[in-house]
Amino acid sequence: MWLYVAALVGLYLLQRWYRERQMVENLTEKYAFITGCDSGFGNQLARQLDAQGLRVLAACLTPEGAEQLEKVTSDQLKTTLLDVTSTESVAAATEWVKTCVGNKAMWLYLAALVGLYLLRRWYRERQMGENLTEKYAFITGCDTGFGNQLARQLDARGLRVLAACLTPEGAEQLEKRTSDRLKTTLLDVTSTESVAAATEWVKTCVGNKGLWGLINNAGTANPTAPNEWLTKKDFVSVLDVNLLGLIDVTLHMLPFVRKAKGRVVNMSSVLGRLSFIGGGYPISKYGLAPDIQESYGQKFLKMYCKMMQHSKTYSGKNLRLVTDRIEHALTSRHPRARYSAGWDAKLLFLPASYWPSWVVDWLFLVFLYVTAHTS
Ligand SMILES: NC(=O)c1ccc[n+]([C@@H]2O[C@H](COP(=O)([O-])OP(=O)(O)OC[C@H]3O[C@@H](n4cnc5c(N)ncnc54)[C@H](OP(=O)(O)O)[C@@H]3O)[C@@H](O)[C@H]2O)c1
Repeated sequence: MWLYVAALVGLYLLQRWYRERQMVENLTEKYAFITGCDSGFGNQLARQLDAQGLRVLAACLTPEGAEQLEKVTSDQLKTTLLDVTSTESVAAATEWVKTCVGNKAMWLYLAALVGLYLLRRWYRERQMGENLTEKYAFITGCDTGFGNQLARQLDARGLRVLAACLTPEGAEQLEKRTSDRLKTTLLDVTSTESVAAATEWVKTCVGNKGLWGLINNAGTANPTAPNEWLTKKDFVSVLDVNLLGLIDVTLHMLPFVRKAKGRVVNMSSVLGRLSFIGGGYPISKYGLAPDIQESYGQKFLKMYCKMMQHSKTYSGKNLRLVTDRIEHALTSRHPRARYSAGWDAKLLFLPASYWPSWVVDWLFLVFLYVTAHTS
């Protein structure tokens, strides 16, 4: 029996030893307030906990005691004066403790608020609109790229897609890859006649239902090059498509959008915020004046061309990064006003648009150099 008792006691001690060895987590984030730290146990404990990494708030009776303690401890340890027999002194120390631990509480509170906000946003954005299969979406520039991908995506989702292509070949190809519900038309957004004709077509298609989604996707980046190499006509040709074309289409379609209480999606670009370069292709075939060409040098031209090639390959890698956001803008009950697609836009380009210009210029030069030498 004695053996049995001894075994039980042994087990109890072992279990106690094991449990007591388990330490509290995040000790370095925890505050400990100790009274009577001038000398003795209080003083020793303050130094000991400080060495363990806890945030020690040490109350001393005398300024000398506090001074001595501060000398032998880390900067993390803070001291105050406290006479526990005086309620005023206790109240003052309480206020002091509140200030010390309060900052941490505030950060936690802020983090909790941000967390709650993100959770609510996530929940709201998952709620989809009703009767999607009855809704019409008109997309410009569906021959290739995002427009083409989006037309197929929305078609697969069941929406009634009205896809405008620049060329008959583009329209034909798209029709081959989509359902019978998707309809195509030809549209050159730079021509008001073409826009008017597309508007009539849309009117016939949507009837009384109106237009749920207008997606202004058509765009071009060409010709692109350092400004000095371009003419006014080069600028006009791009603005005609990306800006005036977009405005013209929107003005024509707005009455239908209003009828359906629908949505307009405009394709923007981080380059609108950071005009360090346009997308596009090598411009070596452009007729440059020889002196200008010389002043930039062949090396620069080669670097520029390589970078354009690199950015074109990169931007075409995952079209769904963009089209999924447009799909959300059209199908969610709670769409966002703005979407940014890709971590590069979120973490680099958008923040960089607030940085000093000289920093961005310098980074651009480094980027130009690196892509030219690695791609
Ligand atoms: N790619 C990116 O990284 C990026 C980044 C930010 C913003 N964006 C914007 O996203 C949109 C689509 O870009 P994407 O990369 O998909 O380019 P994309 O493949 O060149 O697609 C643009 C589409 O617009 C069409 N288009 C060109 N001129 C037109 C005109 N005058 N009228 C009607 N359609 C015309 C093109 O037709 P053709 O193919 O027949 O020429 C093409 O189908 C553009 O507005 C672009 O500015 C793109």
